[in-house]
Amino acid sequence: LIFDDRSLACLAAADRIAATIRAATDARGKAVLGLATGGTPIPVYERLVGLHEADGLSLAGVTSFNLDEYYPMSPLDPRSYRSYMHRHLFSKVDLAPNRAHLPDGTVPESALEAYGEAYDRWIAAEGGLDLQLLGLGRNGHVGFNEPDGMAVDRALDLPTRPVSLHPTTIADAAKDFGGEEHVPRRALTMGTASILAARSILVLAFGLNKAEAVARSLSGPITAEVPGSLLRSAGDRVTWLLDPEAASDL
Ligand code: GLP
Repeated sequence: LIFDDRSLACLAAADRIAATIRAATDARGKAVLGLATGGTPIPVYERLVGLHEADGLSLAGVTSFNLDEYYPMSPLDPRSYRSYMHRHLFSKVDLAPNRAHLPDGTVPESALEAYGEAYDRWIAAEGGLDLQLLGLGRNGHVGFNEPDGMAVDRALDLPTRPVSLHPTTIADAAKDFGGEEHVPRRALTMGTASILAARSILVLAFGLNKAEAVARSLSGPITAEVPGSLLRSAGDRVTWLLDPEAASDL
């Protein structure tokens, strides 16, 4: 879907999320959301807060799992994704604090792999994700699933795990950390297995600097070198919401 501008795309995304929350809560008494950080989804969270305040949208039945967190990272650090979620959403709606999950950037090194696998089990134990919200990195990354030379069948089935950040990702995060040298080199990311199993997936990408990643994701080969292209394996469960600039190379 190509919208006239990014604010309209974000309104549409928030309305889809609100509809999912209402439908899943009505049907099963709960909704399970996969949430994303970055600059792109901030207006989506603003709209959800507005729907909560003015339109009776309750998130009391929602369980959420965020995509990623820097590693190592204290949840109390203002640059953590946990702090971001608190600022933009968790502190402003009635989502129960003990149901709002992010990967924990304080897990000891030796327990990281097991922790990632447990994170996938927690998602599965909730019945999987009703909806996963995604942004797209300039290098085509999804969450912190970075470009990689591995075979496609393996790339489609990755667990939640520790990863090394790509140089483009470190450069893009520099503004949030006061310089590239302060950006953590590693992160925990939800894997493609849990992301691709979501019952619906919304991908938001805006601006000219995402145009190449969007075109490579939607029209190039399906390859682990472009993690966004792996989303095509989820077929019509995936909706891309773009502005004209991000769609300009299609
Ligand atoms: C970050 C996040 C991704 C996000 C992407 C795009 O590094 N880990 O989940 O989608 O990069 O960020 P932005 O929306 O700020 O362009």
